[in-house]
Amino acid sequence: MTESPLALPVVDAELEQRLVERLARIEEQLAEHCRGRTPYVTRAASHLMEAGGRRFRPLLVLLAAEAGPHPDAPEVDTAACVVELTHVASLYHDDVMDEAVMRRGADTANARWDNHVAILTGDFLFGRSSELTADLGPDAVRIQARTFSRLVEGQILETVDPGPGEDRLSHYLEVVAGKTGSLIATSARYGAMFSGASPEVVEALRAYGELVGSAFQLSDDILDIAAESADSGKTPGTDLREGVPTLPVLMAQASTDPADARLLELLGQPLSDDALRAEALDLLRRHPAMQQARDYVVGQATQAKKHLEVLDPGPVRTALEAFADVVATRSS
Ligand code: IPE
Ligand code: IPE
Ligand code: MG
Ligand code: MG
Repeated sequence: MTESPLALPVVDAELEQRLVERLARIEEQLAEHCRGRTPYVTRAASHLMEAGGRRFRPLLVLLAAEAGPHPDAPEVDTAACVVELTHVASLYHDDVMDEAVMRRGADTANARWDNHVAILTGDFLFGRSSELTADLGPDAVRIQARTFSRLVEGQILETVDPGPGEDRLSHYLEVVAGKTGSLIATSARYGAMFSGASPEVVEALRAYGELVGSAFQLSDDILDIAAESADSGKTPGTDLREGVPTLPVLMAQASTDPADARLLELLGQPLSDDALRAEALDLLRRHPAMQQARDYVVGQATQAKKHLEVLDPGPVRTALEAFADVVATRSS
């Protein structure tokens, strides 16, 4: 398989070319949707969009649309804009929550301006996304509303401890499914829906997206420990700094090996101290919990791929399968 300009490995050259061209048109539309009535709003709202990003969610909409009889339907493009606008809006808010200073290799809006600007710009983009969703009709509006409340509830749940008697891993997995699985599931679902796929295919792609979306977040959490900022465009160790437990941390905390005593002591608290965080990162990177976490994600990708069995074998199914594999093993 050759290197693709897309975030998804697409094995068929003709399909790849079509997706690249379509994504370029969606890029122009996204820039248009970030425009406000005043230059100041436009500047703040375009900031993260222009900084880049992989456009993974719009691409998934387009690819899922290839599973239906009318992949070229204009609603598919609108849906692709809806999901990226929702995603980018959630990033403005997430960076406030996580006190992040770098995103997509650029300053976050909260670092460049302040929290007020970041929150209101996120709201503005949610508004733009909702306006567009209205063009897609009541079913899409209902799906989008539910997706948005799941995403936000996931973000809220991340800030609270598990309930009494609730397992920490299940709590974490619920957070991940809510904050990330929900929108990626909707991306795949919209693509299939607006290209006229059968209800069975729409449901299979939604279920695939839900699992791939969670796997995507689990990989991202592993990369928060394993990646360098030059590769991720973000500051490593952000979850540790904020005291957000993630899959490798939860797995390391299950260790009873006395050699892990220092790591366990460090992991019990938010690590705002740079030296302590660097020490924890170093110990974690060498800990077997990292491989255990990676194996877990590969298992989830395997589950996701099972949902694709309803599709006919061919380039679209192959691309979706390869994508699940890439999500589980990505290094940036
Ligand atoms: C970042 O999303 C937030 C997560 C859900 C992990 P992406 O990893 O898709 O970020 P961009 O859009 O490529 O910047
Ligand atoms: C982001 O989660 C999820 C949403 C924006 C909904 P994270 O906080 O884990 O993602 P990054 O690492 O900042 O991209
Ligand atoms: Mg974050
Ligand atoms: Mg966060």
